[in-house]
Amino acid sequence: MATILGIGIATLDIINEVNQYPAEDSEQRALAQRKRTGGNVCNTLSVLRQFEHQCALAAVLTSDADGAFIQEKIAQRGIDLSPSHKIGFGHAPTSYITLNRPNGSRTIVHYRDAPEFDLTAFLAIDLTPFDWLHFEARHCMDTAAMLALARSMSKTQILSLEIEKERPHLEQLFSFPDVIFFSRAFAQNRDFNDPRAFLTAAHHWAPQAVLILAWGAAGAYWLAPSSGRIHAIESQTVDPVVDTLGAGDTLIAGVIHARTSQGATDDWSPAVTFGVRLAEQKIQQIGLDDLNTRAGQAAKTQPLCHLDDLGPADALGVRPLNGIPSVIVVRAHKTLYAYRNICPHNGSPLSKTQRGYLIDKPEGFALRCAVHNAHFDIESGTCTQGPCPGTHLQTVPIRIAGDAVFLAPEVDEPENNPSIAQSS
Ligand code: FRU
Repeated sequence: MATILGIGIATLDIINEVNQYPAEDSEQRALAQRKRTGGNVCNTLSVLRQFEHQCALAAVLTSDADGAFIQEKIAQRGIDLSPSHKIGFGHAPTSYITLNRPNGSRTIVHYRDAPEFDLTAFLAIDLTPFDWLHFEARHCMDTAAMLALARSMSKTQILSLEIEKERPHLEQLFSFPDVIFFSRAFAQNRDFNDPRAFLTAAHHWAPQAVLILAWGAAGAYWLAPSSGRIHAIESQTVDPVVDTLGAGDTLIAGVIHARTSQGATDDWSPAVTFGVRLAEQKIQQIGLDDLNTRAGQAAKTQPLCHLDDLGPADALGVRPLNGIPSVIVVRAHKTLYAYRNICPHNGSPLSKTQRGYLIDKPEGFALRCAVHNAHFDIESGTCTQGPCPGTHLQTVPIRIAGDAVFLAPEVDEPENNPSIAQSS
């Protein structure tokens, strides 16, 4: 689980679903209408929340009725609004969206009269708790100052930037982020119809950054800054596409989730792949809800680990790419146990490392939380010593197939205890 601050915009999205994109100066009846909160960063955080990350939003929030609606909905998703700047004037930024049902395309007319989230509001935020700051490129002079400030305060925080469309002074932003997400519309607006040619050019603008370019039905491309190599992550065929609104925001959430779950390596392919897969799930459904569940179904087809990853008495921290932040797979007495890597004492991971969970006590092996030294019985997950005696680690259902350990479907039958699997 990571702590993520998103800096950008929250909108009211009024979505009309039609069965044919309207001609100019025509009239038709919408098939359905929905009102929801949107905005790129807000959408990205909403998806990240589903993966149990702690998320906070820094945006301008108005106090009109639509502004109140936005605040209520965002707070209900568990996103911390305290870094946002609340103003007593202006209308909530509003997007009037036409969703074409036959192909899922979304056409957006956006209106705003409220000011952008600015440097002064940013200066009031305590940035120290955050692992990752994700910016939308909006008012670029202010955004550049925010990025520069954040960079000067921390070298370890990941700074990512989304560039969706052309803005004045965009070039001021390029030298700061660790990661830049570009949209296809932006690349094409700069006359690049070849994603590789675009990334090669962008590498000159931001040589330090991992560059990720979404390319619609083709998937995404990413460039490794150390080598300049470009990797293609192909999309799988999705049919039918029902709603593309927020697909790019979902891809970004998927990449951030996967990166924070996997730890840092130079290889961003697994993270970009997860982002692309998650975006594929998104476009098959209306809205952004429950993407973690869909990703969870997909993750059940990927092994958590293999039996030979574990010694006879061993515990391994693994990071499945689904809603579960991290899992500890334990082998003891020829049996496998799996628990969520969340200490019941304060909700933090027992450790963020791969190993170091098992301790050898006179009465046998136990799991140990490195944060406050809580000890847990391997078989029951019960805390036997430390700050939270009697509380339990949460079990994770697993199954063994061949030499691989998988997440299992949740089944309640007692004879099929889902958290325990016999290993030979
Ligand atoms: C989708 C979206 C909508 C919002 C618009 C803002 O990516 O964030 O939710 O209305 O774009 O540009």
